[in-house]
Parts: sequence; structure tokens; C-alpha cells
Amino acid sequence: MAETPALHLPRPAEVVGIEQESPTVFTLRLRPSAPDGCPLPRFRPGQFNMLAVPGVGEVPISIVSDPRDPELLDHTIRRVGRVTTALARLQPGDRIGLRGPYGHGWPLRESEQRDLVVVTGGVGCAPVTGAIEYVIRRRERYGHLNIVQGVKHADDFFWRDRYARWAEAPDTEVLIAADVGGPLWPWHVGRVTELFDRLRFDPRRVSVLLCGPEGMMAAVIGEMQARGVPDTDIWLSMERNMQCGVGLCGHCQIGPHFVCRDGPVFRYDVIAPLFRKRGF
Ligand SMILES: Cc1cc2nc3c(=O)[nH]c(=O)nc-3n(C[C@H](O)[C@H](O)[C@H](O)COP(=O)(O)OP(=O)(O)OC[C@H]3O[C@@H](n4cnc5c(N)ncnc54)[C@H](O)[C@@H]3O)c2cc1C
Ligand code: FES
Repeated sequence: MAETPALHLPRPAEVVGIEQESPTVFTLRLRPSAPDGCPLPRFRPGQFNMLAVPGVGEVPISIVSDPRDPELLDHTIRRVGRVTTALARLQPGDRIGLRGPYGHGWPLRESEQRDLVVVTGGVGCAPVTGAIEYVIRRRERYGHLNIVQGVKHADDFFWRDRYARWAEAPDTEVLIAADVGGPLWPWHVGRVTELFDRLRFDPRRVSVLLCGPEGMMAAVIGEMQARGVPDTDIWLSMERNMQCGVGLCGHCQIGPHFVCRDGPVFRYDVIAPLFRKRGF
């Protein structure tokens, strides 16, 4: 995380685009103003911003856009409660507060020359999008790329064009599953783990990147362990309620770890003793 004090103060960001991805998911394109006298901070895939709606509240949301362009920041958001509903009502030209980027991103350097298995659920695809785009732009540096996305219902699936483009990339497999399909659903009906016999990877040389509901991540971790993948090669993005976003308030604490400061991306062996344990 960059340590510029100005990053901890919300700065104005103008809404310059809104894309409705599904009935409950939308993408906000924001143009942040630069902190006083500083260039716009650079970010890495997997990092997040705190988005503040004045008078309503502030929420952590991952950055999905291209890190090469810090002047336009895309955030893909599921409307679930108070703040995300207020974000969903914004119009082009409105201004909100933005601070960040915060947290640790995905292990992209560490994963070079390795196969990749990226498994996401629901809007969990958003925090990993930047990592997939990064790998696709540097395809020769990585092994086989497996992208698996699961949704509850066929109607929840969005970014069809984006997944189709990824499927065209060399040495790349895209697998999609919905718990509940529909008449025109061309992909698998069932759980993402039912697709795992179709994955191509060497368990001694793979990085597994996970983001989604913890039950789904636990099931995937079990499948990967059964296939011989060590815990040190599994990475997951954790979600917890946040207030400060910078390791001061303790709201996002899991045992000794603060999700905002030490995560949100954790190596599984670091978080394993506390993962899905009640009381943490
Ligand atoms: C590091 C990090 C990155 C995140 N990135 C994204 C992102 O890219 N896109 C995105 O849509 N969300 C993301 N989230 C989740 C997002 O921060 C929450 O959905 C948001 O804080 C909810 O705020 P709210 O005020 O709208 O809901 P609240 O009013 O706080 O909650 C309303 C109801 O929704 C439930 N709820 C809250 N959060 C969730 C949730 N995540 N899933 C299901 N139910 C929930 C609550 O339990 C409550 O019942 C991220 C969270 C973290 C920690
Ligand atoms: S949100 Fe305050 S410590 Fe993480």
C-alpha cells in the first residue's frame, strides 16, 4: 500500500459512466481528482478503493479497470444494502468520495511461468478481472490459464463478451456454471467443482486464485488439495465489513490479520487456521 497521507482522505470522483451488467450488478466508471500536488496513485489488480456516498456511508469495492489508466477507475458493484443502493442511484456528473488504492493485490509476479486456475463466484469475478487481463496481455509469461465462473442463476451471469474474448486467448480455457440454468443457457448446470476434471494444470506448478462466497472457496480448496496443490499455491480474496480500510479500527479483523491491511488477497496457508471458523 502506498503510504501517502493524502490517500486516506476521500477525494472527489466524478461518475463518468454507468453500465447495468445484470438486474443487480452495475459498473461505475469514476474519474478521480488527483490528491493535492500528487499524481494519481497507481494500483495493482486485486486492490480496492473505499467509495463514499455523502450522508450515506462508505464501502470497500475492488478496482476492475486497467491499472495502466489510473485516471478512469471502473468498479463493478452488486446492490445489496444501504450504500450500494445509493451508489446504484448515481447519475453521470454526480460526485462521490474515493480513497485508496488499499490492500495487497494478486501474486502476479510470483505466478509467472506457472499454470493458473482462477475460480470465482457471483460478483467475485470483479476483483480478479484485472489479474486475468494482466495475464492475457503477457500471455507468454504464464502457463495454461483456466478461468472458471459460477453463478447461482443463469440471469446472474454478466460479461458474456468479456468471457468470450478471454476464451479466444491462446492456451486459455473458460468454463461457466450456473446452479440454476435456463432454456438458452449453453454452459454447465451445477457447481463449479463439477467442471474440475476439465481443468488443465500441473499441481506442482500452479497458482490458484479464488474469489467468491466462502463456502464455494472452501469446496474449491478441498478439490485442489485432493489434486495435490499445496496450500502455499492457493490465494484467496477475503471479504469483511470495513470502516477505516487502513488497519486502524479492527472491523475487518480475522484473528491477527486485518483484511484491509494484510489482505484482501491472502495465501491460503496464512489464513487456513482461521478460515471459516466461528468467532473470527
Ligand atoms: C476488499 C473488498 C472488496 C470488495 N469488492 C467488491 C466489489 O468489487 N463488488 C461488490 O459488489 N462488492 C464488493 N465488496 C463487498 C461490498 O463492500 C459490500 O457488498 C458492501 O460493503 C455492502 O454495503 P451496503 O451498505 O450496500 O450493505 P449493508 O447495508 O451493509 O448490508 C445490507 C445487507 O446485505 C448484506 N450484505 C452485505 N454485504 C454483502 C455481500 N458482500 N454479499 C451478500 N450480502 C451482503 C448484509 O449482511 C445485510 O444483510 C468488497 C468487499 C471487500 C471487503
Ligand atoms: S477496516 Fe479498519 S482495520 Fe480494517
